[in-house]
Amino acid sequence: MISEALQKAREYEAHNGPAIPESDRPAFHATPTIGWMNDPNGFSFYKGECHLFYQYHPYSNEWGPMHWGHLKTKDFIRWERLPAALAPDESYDADGCFSGSAVQLPDGRQLLMYTGVRREQTEDGHTQDRQTQCIAIGDGINYEKAAFNPVLSEKDLPEGGSPADFRDPKAWREEDGRFYAVIGNRTQDGSGAVLLYQSEDGLKWEFVRTLDRSGNQYGRMWECPDFFSLDGSQVLLTSPQDMAPIGLEFHAGNGTLCLIGGYDPHSGFTRRKAQAIDYGLDFYAPQTLQAPDGRRIMIAWMQNWNTVGAKPCCCRWFGQQTIPRELSIREGRLIQLPVRELENYRGPAVLYHDIPLSGETGLPGVQGRILDMTVTVRPAGKGSYRWFRLHLAKGEEYDTILRYRPDGSTLKIDRCRSGLPHDVVHTRSFLVRPQNGEIKLRVILDRFSLEVFVNDGEQAASAIIYPPQQADAIRFEADGQVLLDVEKYALVFDSSKEKAADDRENL
Ligand code: FRU
Repeated sequence: MISEALQKAREYEAHNGPAIPESDRPAFHATPTIGWMNDPNGFSFYKGECHLFYQYHPYSNEWGPMHWGHLKTKDFIRWERLPAALAPDESYDADGCFSGSAVQLPDGRQLLMYTGVRREQTEDGHTQDRQTQCIAIGDGINYEKAAFNPVLSEKDLPEGGSPADFRDPKAWREEDGRFYAVIGNRTQDGSGAVLLYQSEDGLKWEFVRTLDRSGNQYGRMWECPDFFSLDGSQVLLTSPQDMAPIGLEFHAGNGTLCLIGGYDPHSGFTRRKAQAIDYGLDFYAPQTLQAPDGRRIMIAWMQNWNTVGAKPCCCRWFGQQTIPRELSIREGRLIQLPVRELENYRGPAVLYHDIPLSGETGLPGVQGRILDMTVTVRPAGKGSYRWFRLHLAKGEEYDTILRYRPDGSTLKIDRCRSGLPHDVVHTRSFLVRPQNGEIKLRVILDRFSLEVFVNDGEQAASAIIYPPQQADAIRFEADGQVLLDVEKYALVFDSSKEKAADDRENL
């Protein structure tokens, strides 16, 4: 049964979504059908296809009562629109269907697990959220919320756990057939924790243990956890709120945290290492899936709560997802690379090798706003250089800059002049590790974003940019003498009309 609220959202998006020209959207990053998008939800395979749901407020470009929007993809690059999946239409989720996940049940149906939010009046006249975990079961398009919702509530919390901050279940099924879920929670000291639950059938859940807690070291509430094994290690991802900066590794505000360690079913999770997940300006709430071919793939909201006020006036969609990234562990670090399917969309190669550079130059054939380009920089001969700058999306008034300083090994993203005339954070620096004196930057541009993968995925950094599309120059600049290699591919998507027609049919 489709509720009135869901029907209304579906009609609204079917009517307004197709009116947005494809050229006003990124070419291959997921965006909402209409209105607002935040966290990725339910990123998973169902019946052989990859589904992506998302936190969705169709009616404006601002956050509002949370629905779940719905997309699917055959190759992580081209997205097909499906009708909204959930609306806040029950007493236990009247104030929002918050983030969650999806998993296929043994009987072939798809289970969505999400946080139902209800705002309650406290005795002293304040309001407080009551967050519970709920499920909805469906066929990949329509979902029915369980009559016995919520499936996890206050009574299922460990001692001292906050019922007001108990959210974002990430569920998965293990090879033994059992279901598990990790859920974010706030503990008595006010900081975050990740709780582990288990279930025999996906419907009835029980608490197993607390996997890890912040102890106010890495931010406060831990949102959107994920937990999986990768290359012999165990990885716990979470998005902490209210972080205090730690060197150039963690910045202030809403951040992301990757804890790498080991897991033993008897003693639990042992943390060995902590690192940021993305070092840029716009990245939050990542979620992963395991593809049928075994790859662990992560997608995230390519925004940050602290900068969402910076948006083009009157935009009809707001919020996008990162390119899905293949994860691995190398030398104890999380490695991220764009999904290999991106390479199927590469146009002819433009290649340069050992180009001497001192001062500033452009290179014939190297420009564009939808591209995949790798730039390798090394000192020329025995010489040295003070800095190297890669200018992207450059026009008369516009310039998005990646600046590398070998002395100190810092890479800086600077989007002060990237079409966002708002007083928000526009620059960020982080430490990188040159390899044999070289630094390698793989840059993915897609109309309104920049993602950079440093040294074969050792670090990733993402930022939203909004210069007009005509600002498409790329310039190379060095203070000192360097040698450059450039490998540039335009990314080509020629059947956008066909895709728009598919969407109209689905919605
Ligand atoms: C993270 C988050 C989640 C919550 C959702 C609400 O970005 O705050 O914790 O479920 O957004 O939209």
